[in-house]
Amino acid sequence: MDASEGMRPFAIITGASRGLGAEYARALAARGYDLLLVSRDKPRMDRLAADLAGRYPVTVGMEMADLAQPEAAHRLYVAARQRRGALDLLVNNAGFGLFGEFVDLPMARLQEMLRLHVNTIVESIRLFLPGMIERRSGGIINVSSIAGLFSIPYLAEYAATKAFLISLSEALAEEVRPFGVHIQACCPGSTETDFHATAGFRPRNPLGLQAPAMVVAVSLAALERGPAVVTIGWRGRILALLSRVVPRAWLARAAARRMRPSRRAAG
Ligand SMILES: NC(=O)c1ccc[n+]([C@@H]2O[C@H](COP(=O)([O-])OP(=O)(O)OC[C@H]3O[C@@H](n4cnc5c(N)ncnc54)[C@H](OP(=O)(O)O)[C@@H]3O)[C@@H](O)[C@H]2O)c1
Repeated sequence: MDASEGMRPFAIITGASRGLGAEYARALAARGYDLLLVSRDKPRMDRLAADLAGRYPVTVGMEMADLAQPEAAHRLYVAARQRRGALDLLVNNAGFGLFGEFVDLPMARLQEMLRLHVNTIVESIRLFLPGMIERRSGGIINVSSIAGLFSIPYLAEYAATKAFLISLSEALAEEVRPFGVHIQACCPGSTETDFHATAGFRPRNPLGLQAPAMVVAVSLAALERGPAVVTIGWRGRILALLSRVVPRAWLARAAARRMRPSRRAAG
């Protein structure tokens, strides 16, 4: 630990090897945060850490972890405590999509998603939040999705886990507000990352994809004074409005028509 390290804020970013997580890392390093990057991909994190440490006067640590494993949150907590006593910002960003008919999806991937998007995030918050409350400062960003505002056939479990994160974040934000701690559910729309390739579908968005830098800038700008549920840009605002005014059953039916995999489209 160098002399100035204890003075700088400290953030953990999960899923920091690429996409939105790497973008949070760049933005927070530029704001002077020491970082702990977490993912399973050491070579990518090595490159990102070297780049950030070369450009900004911050320390960048790494933790290789599969956050879908049962003890992942506890391991993360121990790794963080070994580096620093206090955590200022936790970005629960790691996640993936799973597209297809629910009955065709492999059980192992369904379980992995539940552990990654639900169990590990709940447990991480439970572990890190008491320290923030005690210090009367800190923030947690749970990267959800605009999908979490809807029921989405063929992306059913993904949308449901993201809805869970929205509800959890909104409720906890109120619980901890009196203690000066901020909790946000960040809800990006389709964003230009590896997400869709991993999920197994191509977004059909005539307006194009959102830029990761824009998503992260909006999320960080809103953390202290913005709402607990943050959508991105005017498209996000329109979709959030639709989710409130249009009956959910209609929206689910429309989503089914839009998302139905081509194999069954004619059936
Ligand atoms: N892109 C979009 O359109 C979009 C829209 C709304 C919300 N989101 C959300 O944004 C978040 C980031 O996704 P992205 O778009 O940046 O996708 P991405 O480019 O595919 O990145 C996903 C990140 O999650 C990590 N990850 C996945 N499974 C993991 C596991 N078991 N253990 C540890 N790390 C794991 C990956 O690390 P590895 O190197 O270990 O694979 C990677 O760093 C996700 O929660 C996603 O649901 C994305």
